[in-house]
Amino acid sequence: MYDDLSSEERIIHVCVNIDCALRGAEAVRDRLRQLADDTGSDVEVNDYICFAACEQGPNLLIEHRRAFYSEVEPTDAEAVLAHAEGGDPVQSIDRSGSFIARKIFNMLDAGFKPGDLSLSD
Ligand code: FES
Repeated sequence: MYDDLSSEERIIHVCVNIDCALRGAEAVRDRLRQLADDTGSDVEVNDYICFAACEQGPNLLIEHRRAFYSEVEPTDAEAVLAHAEGGDPVQSIDRSGSFIARKIFNMLDAGFKPGDLSLSD
Protein backbone atom coordinates (compact mmCIF):
# COMPACT_ATOMS: atom_id res chain seq x y z
CA MET A 1 0.00 0.00 0.00
CA TYR A 2 2.71 2.47 0.98
CA ASP A 3 4.75 1.70 -2.13
CA ASP A 4 1.82 2.76 -4.30
CA LEU A 5 2.01 6.36 -3.05
CA SER A 6 3.49 9.02 -5.32
CA SER A 7 6.18 11.34 -4.01
CA GLU A 8 3.52 14.06 -3.71
CA GLU A 9 1.70 11.82 -1.25
CA ARG A 10 4.70 11.11 0.99
CA ILE A 11 4.76 14.26 3.05
CA ILE A 12 5.97 15.35 6.47
CA HIS A 13 4.35 18.62 7.55
CA VAL A 14 6.47 20.48 10.12
CA CYS A 15 4.84 23.33 11.98
CA VAL A 16 7.15 26.36 11.86
CA ASN A 17 4.75 28.88 13.34
CA ILE A 18 6.02 30.99 16.23
CA ASP A 19 5.55 28.63 19.20
CA CYS A 20 7.04 25.66 17.42
CA ALA A 21 9.76 27.84 15.90
CA LEU A 22 10.76 29.09 19.33
CA ARG A 23 11.11 25.47 20.42
CA GLY A 24 13.39 24.57 17.52
CA ALA A 25 11.05 23.52 14.71
CA GLU A 26 13.20 25.00 11.98
CA ALA A 27 16.17 22.92 13.09
CA VAL A 28 13.94 19.81 13.02
CA ARG A 29 12.69 20.68 9.53
CA ASP A 30 16.18 21.45 8.27
CA ARG A 31 17.54 18.16 9.64
CA LEU A 32 14.69 16.22 8.02
CA ARG A 33 15.33 17.92 4.68
CA GLN A 34 19.07 17.28 4.94
CA LEU A 35 18.51 13.61 5.71
CA ALA A 36 15.98 13.27 2.88
CA ASP A 37 18.48 14.83 0.47
CA ASP A 38 21.42 12.79 1.76
CA THR A 39 19.55 9.51 1.50
CA GLY A 40 17.74 10.20 -1.76
CA SER A 41 14.38 9.93 -0.04
CA ASP A 42 11.36 11.07 -2.02
CA VAL A 43 9.53 12.11 1.16
CA GLU A 44 8.68 15.81 1.02
CA VAL A 45 9.23 18.00 4.08
CA ASN A 46 6.83 20.94 4.08
CA ASP A 47 6.47 23.96 6.31
CA TYR A 48 3.10 24.04 8.03
CA ILE A 49 1.23 26.91 9.60
CA CYS A 50 -0.12 25.51 12.93
CA PHE A 51 -1.71 22.33 14.28
CA ALA A 52 -3.24 24.08 17.32
CA ALA A 53 -1.00 22.05 19.60
CA CYS A 54 1.40 24.93 20.10
CA GLU A 55 2.33 24.28 23.73
CA GLN A 56 3.78 20.87 22.89
CA GLY A 57 5.82 21.77 19.83
CA PRO A 58 7.74 21.28 17.73
CA ASN A 59 4.94 19.31 16.11
CA LEU A 60 4.83 17.46 12.83
CA LEU A 61 2.41 15.31 10.88
CA ILE A 62 3.34 12.41 8.65
CA GLU A 63 0.25 12.62 6.54
CA HIS A 64 0.45 9.28 4.76
CA ARG A 65 1.25 7.37 7.97
CA ARG A 66 -1.41 9.16 10.04
CA ALA A 67 1.23 9.95 12.63
CA PHE A 68 1.45 13.05 14.78
CA TYR A 69 4.62 13.78 16.71
CA SER A 70 5.27 16.39 19.40
CA GLU A 71 8.29 17.76 21.23
CA VAL A 72 10.38 16.64 18.29
CA GLU A 73 14.13 17.20 18.43
CA PRO A 74 16.56 17.28 15.50
CA THR A 75 17.98 14.03 16.88
CA ASP A 76 14.58 12.39 16.20
CA ALA A 77 14.75 13.24 12.50
CA GLU A 78 16.33 9.99 11.34
CA ALA A 79 13.69 7.87 13.07
CA VAL A 80 10.88 10.16 11.89
CA LEU A 81 12.05 9.93 8.28
CA ALA A 82 12.36 6.15 8.63
CA HIS A 83 8.74 6.04 9.80
CA ALA A 84 7.69 8.21 6.87
CA GLU A 85 9.40 5.71 4.58
CA GLY A 86 7.53 2.75 6.02
CA GLY A 87 9.38 1.98 9.24
CA ASP A 88 8.11 1.77 12.78
CA PRO A 89 6.58 4.70 14.70
CA VAL A 90 8.84 6.68 17.04
CA GLN A 91 7.24 5.78 20.36
CA SER A 92 8.95 8.43 22.50
CA ILE A 93 7.38 11.37 20.60
CA ASP A 94 4.25 9.71 19.21
CA ARG A 95 1.08 11.68 20.02
CA SER A 96 -1.05 10.06 17.33
CA GLY A 97 -3.61 9.03 19.94
CA SER A 98 -4.02 12.51 21.37
CA PHE A 99 -7.15 14.62 21.13
CA ILE A 100 -5.59 17.04 18.65
CA ALA A 101 -4.26 14.23 16.49
CA ARG A 102 -7.71 12.66 16.34
CA LYS A 103 -9.10 16.04 15.22
CA ILE A 104 -6.43 16.26 12.51
CA PHE A 105 -7.18 12.74 11.32
CA ASN A 106 -10.91 13.55 11.31
CA MET A 107 -10.16 16.48 9.00
CA LEU A 108 -8.11 14.21 6.74
CA ASP A 109 -11.00 11.76 6.60
CA ALA A 110 -13.33 14.64 5.69
CA GLY A 111 -11.16 15.51 2.72
CA PHE A 112 -9.17 18.40 4.15
CA LYS A 113 -5.56 18.20 3.02
CA PRO A 114 -2.83 19.67 5.23
CA GLY A 115 -1.15 20.89 2.08
CA ASP A 116 -3.98 23.39 1.80
CA LEU A 117 -2.34 25.27 4.65
CA SER A 118 1.23 24.44 3.76
CA LEU A 119 3.70 27.29 3.59
CA SER A 120 5.74 25.39 1.00
CA ASP A 121 4.95 25.18 -2.70
S1 FES B 1 2.76 26.93 16.55
FE1 FES B 1 3.12 24.84 16.05
S2 FES B 1 1.23 23.86 16.51
FE2 FES B 1 0.84 25.97 16.75
